[in-house]
Amino acid sequence: MNILLLGSGGRECALAWKLRQSPLCKDLYIAPGNAGTSEYGVNLNIALSDFATIKKACIEHRIGTLFPGSEVPLVGGIYDFFKNDDELKDIIVAGPSKAGAQLEGSKAFSKRFMLRHNIPTAAYREFDENNFEEGMEYLKHHPLPIVIKADGLASGKGVVIAQSTEEAKSVFASMLKEGQFGEASKKVVVEQFLDGIELSVFVLTDGEHYVLLPEAKDYKRIHDGDNGPNTGGMGAVSPVPFANAAFMQKVTDTIIIPTIKGLKNENIIYQGFIFFGLISVKGEPYVIEYNCRLGDPETEVVMPRLQNDLVALILKMHEGKLNEATIQYDERAASTIMLVSEGYPGNYEKGKIITGFEKVNDSLLFHAGTAKKGNDIVTDGGRVIALTSYGKTLKDALVVSYENAAMIDYEGKYYRKDIGWEFTG
Ligand code: AMP
Ligand code: GLY
Repeated sequence: MNILLLGSGGRECALAWKLRQSPLCKDLYIAPGNAGTSEYGVNLNIALSDFATIKKACIEHRIGTLFPGSEVPLVGGIYDFFKNDDELKDIIVAGPSKAGAQLEGSKAFSKRFMLRHNIPTAAYREFDENNFEEGMEYLKHHPLPIVIKADGLASGKGVVIAQSTEEAKSVFASMLKEGQFGEASKKVVVEQFLDGIELSVFVLTDGEHYVLLPEAKDYKRIHDGDNGPNTGGMGAVSPVPFANAAFMQKVTDTIIIPTIKGLKNENIIYQGFIFFGLISVKGEPYVIEYNCRLGDPETEVVMPRLQNDLVALILKMHEGKLNEATIQYDERAASTIMLVSEGYPGNYEKGKIITGFEKVNDSLLFHAGTAKKGNDIVTDGGRVIALTSYGKTLKDALVVSYENAAMIDYEGKYYRKDIGWEFTG
């Protein structure tokens, strides 16, 4: 079967690496991809929201499965676009319908969904321009810190944790009144702050059954010690030691099963990945957010630990037979370190020549923001390269990732030096 993978990050590079290993995968295409994905398949220069050109490519390359790595086409309704088109409707789409993608595409939708299905999450209120004044009043009496979230997609930048009422009011006003995130902040969710440790849990569901993939923890802040602004993620580890059997049982019973049943009972078509962004508050799991795709950089540790054939899992998903699949994990730990561009997550320059690839030993090298320029590979994004390593323990894995992080060179290279710190003593 020919597969078209959509996206261009480290996640897609790790997915391309994994898909390429499957004997069920014939030709692999990646749109738009990066300098790393072209080692595993053919990059197609198509934007994620250009459904018409994606359609053409699917027909031309006889695609059997469309695999959206990124949320952008899913929230934009690519599933429905395919299923409503006579020429495309038989192509397997590994991702939810537009309605299902609302779990990620609208914070207000996902909060209401959790309330309806009694899924543990932070208490919240929704506001828009019609109850703006009421919202300003509400903030005055809200305990600190206050979590303010733009309703729609904002590339991971739409969440602010305000430490003072003044800051909260100013963020609230700039989102609702000044359209800070455009359409995405026409509605805002104001949420109780939950204090705990975060964890990313992934399932693949066929709408009825599901399989649980290895869990991971990512590190979102730019600087060591979890300081500075949020990024897409600076590194990840798997497994996560506190996610023991008892904790995961709670996650299963109170979060995963009610979510899948809830989608089914509401007739929301969902065959694809669900990413549960969780927080453990004194050992009790709460949902911080849902995503309708895999995480980045979590995928860079999850795929290396997943031993199953990913294409076989997608086929089981399509047949509605995921109950027949058994997930096999690599027992080893995995860590990934993300090398980024100076200035990220703010402004940064692109086009810096990257060297040292040949010096990397014992790590998987997943490209994120890279591009080919003549004979060189150059930086082409904020997050540049993820270095994933295995180890008997997380500490062993991290030592290897860090050794190799030092080998890659480009002007302005930056990375966190403390990934996995809380688990390695
Ligand atoms: P989100 O985009 O919803 O995942 O939020 C981004 C980050 O903000 C999360 O990974 C958390 O670190 C933080 N965050 C979001 N909601 C809360 C909350 N209710 N309490 C504490 N931290 C939160
Ligand atoms: N690493 C978090 C995300 O993919 O949203």
